[in-house]
Amino acid sequence: MFRTPVGFACLAALALAFPLTTAVADDAQIARGEYLVTIGGCNDCHTPGYFFGKPDRSRFLGGSDVGFEIPGAGVFVGRNITPDKESGIGNWTQDQIIKAIQTGERPDGRVLAPIMPWHAFAHLTADDARAIAAFLQNVKPVSHEVPGPFKPGEKVSTFVFRILPPGEVAAAAPK
Ligand code: HEC
Repeated sequence: MFRTPVGFACLAALALAFPLTTAVADDAQIARGEYLVTIGGCNDCHTPGYFFGKPDRSRFLGGSDVGFEIPGAGVFVGRNITPDKESGIGNWTQDQIIKAIQTGERPDGRVLAPIMPWHAFAHLTADDARAIAAFLQNVKPVSHEVPGPFKPGEKVSTFVFRILPPGEVAAAAPK
C-alpha cells in the first residue's frame, strides 16, 4: 500500500499526529493504576459509605463520611481525590498528585496526616505512582466538599474513628 515515497511520508505524518504506541501505553497505565488503587484500599477511606458497609459507587473516591482522630493532631477525613476542580484534585498536576501520595505534601505545603498511608506509598515504584495518578485523573469527577481537617477540640461534623488510650478502652468495654 505504501510503496511510494509519498505513501511513506503520509504514514510518517500519521504516526507523528497519532502516536498509537503512546495511546496504548496510556490505557495500560490507567489499567495498572486502577489495579493499584483497588489493592491499595484507597476506596475504603476515600469513598462515602464504605465504613457503613455500603460504598457509594456513584461517588467513587469522592471523599469519605468518616474522619480519623489522631490524638493531639485533630480529625482528618479521607478527601475527595476525583478530578473535580472545585472540591477534588482536578487542579493538581500529575506530579503534584504523586508528591502527595508519596511524601504526604500537598501543593499548598500542608503535610497529610499519617492515617493517609503515604509512608507506605513512598515505596511505590515511580511507574506505579504515576499509574495511580493517571488513573485518578481519569475517574468520574465528583462534586463533594469534604469537611476538615479539624483541630483538636473543634466540633466535628462527621462520624469519627477514635484511638483511645488503654485505660479508656477498658472503661468503655462492655461489662
Ligand atoms: C486508611 C485510610 C486511607 C487510605 C487507605 C488511603 N487514604 Fe488517601 N487520605 C486519607 C486521609 C484521611 C486523607 C486526608 C489527610 C489529611 O487531610 O491530612 C487522605 C488524603 C489523600 C490525598 C490528598 C488529597 C487532598 O486534597 O489533600 C490523596 C491524593 C490521597 N489521599 C490518595 C490516596 C490514594 C491514591 C490511596 C490508595 C493508593 C489512598 N489515598 C489511600 C486516608 C486514606
